Amino acid sequence: MHQEQKNLVDQAITSRHSVRAFKNTPLDTQTIKDILNVACRAPSGNNIQPWKVYVVMGKKRDELIEQVCTAQSQIFEKPEIALLHQETFKYYPEQWTSPFIERRRENGWGLYGLLNIKKGEQQKMQHQHLRNYQLFDAPVGIFFTLSTTLETGSKMDIAMMIQNVMIAAKARGIDSCPQAAWNPFHQTVANVLGIPENEELVCAIALGYADQTQVVNQLHTPRVTVEEFATFYD
Ligand SMILES: Cc1cc2nc3c(=O)[nH]c(=O)nc-3n(C[C@H](O)[C@H](O)[C@H](O)COP(=O)(O)O)c2cc1C
Repeated sequence: MHQEQKNLVDQAITSRHSVRAFKNTPLDTQTIKDILNVACRAPSGNNIQPWKVYVVMGKKRDELIEQVCTAQSQIFEKPEIALLHQETFKYYPEQWTSPFIERRRENGWGLYGLLNIKKGEQQKMQHQHLRNYQLFDAPVGIFFTLSTTLETGSKMDIAMMIQNVMIAAKARGIDSCPQAAWNPFHQTVANVLGIPENEELVCAIALGYADQTQVVNQLHTPRVTVEEFATFYD
């Protein structure tokens, strides 16, 4: 690979970051198809290509946002009804351990710090959480599902495909935010989009152009160094 190509790939990867405020500029369907066409070159075990993709915009997007925001607002009022909305698999552990808990806290407080949300400011936190279900105002939501007949391995396959979508989008100047926040609303999403019963929602992406005037998009997330996470053998 030529140096120039290497730089372009590296640039698309390293410039991607989670955007949490979008402009309402629409994306055209052909651009999204192009992105998916590239992204589906992702590898998958035995090339089973387990991903199913639901691209949501326009009126359907508004309907979905309306329904899930209503459901989440009801949970804020009456937390016990959260039990009615279950994700189909656990994304996070119940018991956090070090070093993950520290990184998670750093991330959360980094975001809240930018938004001037302080400890105990429940309403502001809820407002920010609800932004997930407005797709952070992105014009497009992409919902990824897997057949329930598949195993954990397929989550690796679909994760590679999802990362490809975000990188191919970034290479076209389009920003994204991966969102597990939608997973507990699997059933509501399935009802609105007519997703068959034998599919489970594994992730969503908000897709659009970043609103650079919004402070929330200034969050810069750190990474541990290669020396810390990698072990080399010779
Ligand atoms: C599978 C997955 C699910 C995520 N879910 C959410 C989410 O629901 N809401 C959100 O604001 N960010 C979500 N994120 C974004 C992470 O917080 C973000 O990737 C991480 O802090 C690193 O920052 P960066 O993406 O800007 O590099 C998710 C990321 C991944 C990979």
